[in-house]
Amino acid sequence: MEKKIETKKIIFSGIQPSGNLNIGNYIGAISQWVNMQEKYNCIFSVVDYHAITVKQNPEELRRHILEITKIYLAAGIDPEKSIIFQQSAIPAHTELAWVLNCYGARIADLNKMTQFKDKSGKNQESASVGLYDYPVLMAADILLYNTEIVPVGEDQKQHVELARDIAKRFNNEYGDIFVIPQAVIRKDGARIMSLLDASKKMSKSDSNQNNCIALLDDIEVARKKIMRAVTDSGTDIEYDMENKPALSNLLTIYAILGNREIPRLVKDYRGKGYGDFKKDLADVVVKFLTNFQDKYNKISDADAQKVLEAGKKRAEAIAAKKLTEVRQAIGIG
Ligand code: AMP
Ligand code: TRP
Repeated sequence: MEKKIETKKIIFSGIQPSGNLNIGNYIGAISQWVNMQEKYNCIFSVVDYHAITVKQNPEELRRHILEITKIYLAAGIDPEKSIIFQQSAIPAHTELAWVLNCYGARIADLNKMTQFKDKSGKNQESASVGLYDYPVLMAADILLYNTEIVPVGEDQKQHVELARDIAKRFNNEYGDIFVIPQAVIRKDGARIMSLLDASKKMSKSDSNQNNCIALLDDIEVARKKIMRAVTDSGTDIEYDMENKPALSNLLTIYAILGNREIPRLVKDYRGKGYGDFKKDLADVVVKFLTNFQDKYNKISDADAQKVLEAGKKRAEAIAAKKLTEVRQAIGIG
């Protein structure tokens, strides 16, 4: 009888080295990745070519690339199990993006992308072509590795759907070259909101960093940010996204970083006020950050560099194979 070979599904995701990573990135993206390492073959990228769709300071960019790598490691991504690499180290990403620009992506698709509209704001005409084309590069990242699952926060769902559409269009024309990927979004915490305005997401590009808790924030600064976070009117601790969005956001952060269930938290805080709740939440956040930063501080830049180099070798081999298939299919290889 033929032996069935168990092949693990492939996961791909990435984060841009474009600012200080915050607990939104951790909760929405990285914490999911850590849990996926046993079950899947995981590839995690530091997507620096995405970061430059908005102008970056060269020194800061260089620092952020190593910082994110160390954050991946401190969060528990194991380079023995998963591939960690820098996107720009593998030219196949931009090469495939170009092919997909020509064969797969359409202007009508890109015009629908809400992230471009948000990021370009009122100045769409003067936004860079790179910012507009960003989702096609993201599709290339995903499709190069036969990725089946893309774990991301809610805001990236539209981009993953575009990658699916591009892959299907290309396959229709040139045969079964790409695996059709699927986004996976965690149920709670898919969208951690800003601490001072619960109608917008906590974002590492926010100009007011009091909106965010950065993973590398000074511990006492982080405590103050929580104590200053807005709450809703009323006095009871309730989870109600409609009527108490700010409080519900804080409950989500508490539950995930403190490893608790929201209904249980609500029960425990019955009869207590916002002040008590925020003080305890600040303790939970401080404990989480202290633990995280202890691990982070033990990792050197040289360690991070080594991880990126080893990851590059492994990722390169997979990417080159797919690019060759694509080039042959379209008649240039
Ligand atoms: P970005 O900060 O846009 O580069 O996002 C990196 C990853 O973190 C993506 O998977 C996002 O969906 C996720 N992410 C970013 N901000 C948040 C947030 N406020 N809540 C949950 N996930 C987020
Ligand atoms: N666009 C993603 C973000 O801002 C980052 C990203 C780039 C990505 N390429 C990817 C995420 C491929 C998942 C898969 O969050």
